[in-house]
Amino acid sequence: MSYYVTFHSSMKKLIQLIVYFQLSLICFAQLKVTNLLCENLSNPVAIDVTQPRFSWQLVSDKRNLMQTAYEISIGNNSSWEKNKKIIWNSGKINSDSSVHVIYKGPSLQSGARYFWQVRVWDNYGKSASSEPATFQIALLNVADWKANWIEPGFTEDSINRPTPLFRKEFKASKKIQSATAYITAHGMYEGYINGKRIGDFYLTPGWTSYNKRLQYQTFDVTDLLNQGGNTIAMALGSGWYRGYLAWSGNKNSWGKDIALLFQLDITYADGSRESIVSDNSWKTSTGSITYSEIYNGEIIDARKQKTGWRNPGYDDGNWSRVKVKDYNKSNLVATQNEPVKKHETFAPVKIITTPNGENVIDFGQNLVGWVMIKVKGNAGDTITISHAEVLDKYGNFYTENLRAARAQAKYILRGEGEEFFEPHFTFFGFRYIKVEGWPGEIKPENFTAVALYSDMQPTGNFSCSNSLVNQLQHNIQWGQKGNFLDVPTDCPQRDERLGWTGDAQVFSRTASFNMNVNNFFAKWLKDVAADQQVDGSVPFVIPNVLGPRAGGATGWADVCTIIPWNVYLAYGDKRILEQQYNSMEAWVEYMRSKSKDDLWNTGFHFGDWLFYRPFDDNDGRSAVTDKYLIAQCFYAYSTQLLINAANALGRKNDAATYSALLQKIKGAFLKEYVTANGRLVSGTQTAYVLALNFDMLPESQRAETAQRLADNVKSYGNHLTTGFLGTPYLCHVLTRFGYDSIAYKLLLQKTYPSWLYPVKMGATTIWERWDGIKPDSSFETPTMNSFNHYSYGAIGDWMYRVVAGIDTYADAPGYKHVKIQPHLSDSLTYANADLKTYYGTVSSHWKRDKGNLYLDIEIPVNTKATIYIPAVATERVTESNTSLASAGIKVSEKENNYVIVEVGSGKYHFVSTIE
Ligand code: BGC
Repeated sequence: MSYYVTFHSSMKKLIQLIVYFQLSLICFAQLKVTNLLCENLSNPVAIDVTQPRFSWQLVSDKRNLMQTAYEISIGNNSSWEKNKKIIWNSGKINSDSSVHVIYKGPSLQSGARYFWQVRVWDNYGKSASSEPATFQIALLNVADWKANWIEPGFTEDSINRPTPLFRKEFKASKKIQSATAYITAHGMYEGYINGKRIGDFYLTPGWTSYNKRLQYQTFDVTDLLNQGGNTIAMALGSGWYRGYLAWSGNKNSWGKDIALLFQLDITYADGSRESIVSDNSWKTSTGSITYSEIYNGEIIDARKQKTGWRNPGYDDGNWSRVKVKDYNKSNLVATQNEPVKKHETFAPVKIITTPNGENVIDFGQNLVGWVMIKVKGNAGDTITISHAEVLDKYGNFYTENLRAARAQAKYILRGEGEEFFEPHFTFFGFRYIKVEGWPGEIKPENFTAVALYSDMQPTGNFSCSNSLVNQLQHNIQWGQKGNFLDVPTDCPQRDERLGWTGDAQVFSRTASFNMNVNNFFAKWLKDVAADQQVDGSVPFVIPNVLGPRAGGATGWADVCTIIPWNVYLAYGDKRILEQQYNSMEAWVEYMRSKSKDDLWNTGFHFGDWLFYRPFDDNDGRSAVTDKYLIAQCFYAYSTQLLINAANALGRKNDAATYSALLQKIKGAFLKEYVTANGRLVSGTQTAYVLALNFDMLPESQRAETAQRLADNVKSYGNHLTTGFLGTPYLCHVLTRFGYDSIAYKLLLQKTYPSWLYPVKMGATTIWERWDGIKPDSSFETPTMNSFNHYSYGAIGDWMYRVVAGIDTYADAPGYKHVKIQPHLSDSLTYANADLKTYYGTVSSHWKRDKGNLYLDIEIPVNTKATIYIPAVATERVTESNTSLASAGIKVSEKENNYVIVEVGSGKYHFVSTIE
């Protein structure tokens, strides 16, 4: 009996297990459609494009899975799921497109919310439908704005310009079904409804070329509203609009008056609508923020707080009326990129008393944001928090490199129990703070640093067996976090923090690996085009606060061709090429107009900014590259990218015209800068790198020139000497011409100048200079010594694309056709990179051990890949423990030390013999 029972229950378990196993197989292998994006965003609440684009991801464990067809349905009814009121159905389209598929239905309505769903079919005969997703159209027409611009009615203190507050009470008499707030400002704004913060965005409305494009944000505020009494409370800061920017006391870049534009569109349950807008019924006053400037910081006097002003019932009888202004609204645009949000928080890692007796807190990471404090004290106690990136060689607090930026938060206590402070309309670049005036003992639990940056999706990871390189990758990512604050800035701490075009282009390709920067750059590039001069010259900084003549520098202005192309490669986003095409062409035409006989050798240029130059340069080791040689190289490169864009957009005539021009540009380069024996007039790494990377030389001269580059690197003891313009391509060129081992030596070089030197010196971000802190721990000149400048982080691109080997083909961009080609080095035992693309995750993980290579690859569904497997012979490669042939993997050829295979989606485990 007992035997029978045991047998019976075991059988039952076995059957259960088999059923479970089969079921899980079915579930696992099942086709799924997820990650629905509209205009590259998940369920966006405000897009102002009339033909939005849709992307989705197919998920399946099956190999070689491709989408064969899709069908998109769009509905505009909130009860869509129930009665599926379809406004557009694409029909079943036989296509493998699953990214940036364009809406082709009837006109979409301002302010309306839509549902969408996609059904896909695959090459295994399966089909699946996604869950519904939503998108909401912003205000498409100026006439949709019922709100008026309002300004403080009182006379502002024109020196300190304390933050004006605005408030409005209103009654919602009926049950509210939904409510959307549209808000922007001349300045920065922060808003509350019934005491609760509107959204979790900071530094809104962000930074654009305000007179041409001013972003507004859209918030679903249904949950903040009451049926009955409601209060809207808004605070404004000077921000970029009218605060100090650039140098020499420059302020009021877009105007001297601060203003608010606010519109709340309410839909009641009975279907009726009401709008509460900024108008002459609002009241205004000042409050606790008595000073606020981006560079200098903020002063909050809690004694001046207007208690209860954010809530209904507050008596605003003595507040002023507002001034209503009739500003043009045609510059209003919906926010396209991810807004700035709070991200990582940091507790103090050390509390220090410096030799100078300063009370300093170390947060362990150079970051951008601010410190939140909790404090108890007496009314009038004044706490000053100063910010610094580094301590000097004696361990004292060092702020000289912030130049004129005061970078301080000052808090004056109200003296009523525990008080909480954080700034509102400023930000700081810091790792250390100095605390003055703290009542009582400084305890770590009272301080939390928080990082603020644009809320881009993290997409990339890179790690390898060298911990210094891993720290370098960390520093690159933190350089990006710190400087992608609505616009790409050069640095986040000193009196600069501007959208320097050169820095942005240099770093753009690396940035596209670490995070999804598609919309971030798409938005900024619109400002690039908007601020471009009529003659095609591109300003040094965007938004342009340096005046119309500050522009046209080689390698800086080329931002307008380089970033659109990099974004196109990374995301397959053709619209960015369409959007920027005129800007790209205008810049090429500008260079053409300044050239004589196709040689561009006029105008001001920064050149290979911050290249290597030793202090006591007796035998001439400084790596000076002729600026006009550089200009001719970038002239060619921008023309090449314009040709690429023309080809991608099917503009054949333009492609032909500019191809002819490109030949002449290269011809003029050879005539002017290359000797008969193939020497460049500047024998620097940057000169060789640019000439080779942009194909300036005839095929026959390239190998020899690459040899000269390799020799040059060796002559500096395997050190780089490049500045901003040569650095991004240095290792790529070495790799391309067979000098991987030298490229690795540069990557792993620990002494100055090199990428790892700052790491060895304790850097947690990328420095502006190769030797911001010198080997003797003294600093470079304080006038130019930022410790958070991402440009030299451009090596990240080589780490992803060459060390791990993840790349995309330009004729199938956005990783529709993935290229995997790891480049091994004896100095690394493993390297891993993962990249979230619109199709899914691409991974390349390699590990070498005892003459074998273990290569784990992941290729997303609906893409294909060409994989270069390092191996001595095809027969010495297995996949999941079987030969390539029996794994059904197509071997296309053998090239040098690689076996090249063509695969579809799936996870692959290759083992090969490499020695
Ligand atoms: C910035 C740079 C910028 C440069 C122009 C500097 O002040 O910080 O990164 O590109 O000026 O050369």
